[in-house]
Amino acid sequence: MSPRQAAIRVRPPRELRRQRRRRSHTCWDHLLVAPLWPLHGANLGTLLRTCDAVGACMAVPRFPWVPEALARGNTLRRPACVHWVGDPLGWLERQRASGSRVVGVELADEAVRLADLPAARTRTVAVLGHEQSGIPAEALDLLDLAVEIPMVGAGSSLNVAVAGSLVLYRLAGLL
Ligand SMILES: C[S@@+](CC[C@H](N)C(=O)[O-])C[C@H]1O[C@@H](n2cnc3c(N)ncnc32)[C@H](O)[C@@H]1O
Repeated sequence: MSPRQAAIRVRPPRELRRQRRRRSHTCWDHLLVAPLWPLHGANLGTLLRTCDAVGACMAVPRFPWVPEALARGNTLRRPACVHWVGDPLGWLERQRASGSRVVGVELADEAVRLADLPAARTRTVAVLGHEQSGIPAEALDLLDLAVEIPMVGAGSSLNVAVAGSLVLYRLAGLL
């Protein structure tokens, strides 16, 4: 190794486990990600893992297939903090009425760029759109703010779980 190269040591799994929580967190209820119109169960599993990493909860609709998708996607095999939502629009209205900030993760004209999104200082709900049609128009009216992740490639959008994970990290103040 040349004298200018820093020695980089990859932390082994046993050491990483010692640094992590022994149990999953109970509901911190400060940061929630809300994929309220999900299509693919695999994306819910990916988001669940990010929720554990940043200390967030997930709000999902009571679709019949969702509990099974969450059970399959919960690769950490620990209880996850999940809020069940019967009526997405009514739920969003109640979140706002009770003082939460509702942030839409969406490619929208009025959106702030991810780098300009401050960490959540009050209870915050990050709303994700449907994998094909995005956040429905009726729900856009219920957002306090929209955030967009800039893209320079040919694709028109990111995978919803990737987009949600990036925004969660930013809101949690970990990026
Ligand atoms: C695959 S995208 C939906 C795109 C859909 N074809 C449309 O035109 O509305 C699914 C969701 O991922 C999120 N998303 C994907 N890329 C994003 C980006 N670059 N910035 C913000 N949100 C994004 C949004 O929540 C979006 O509703």
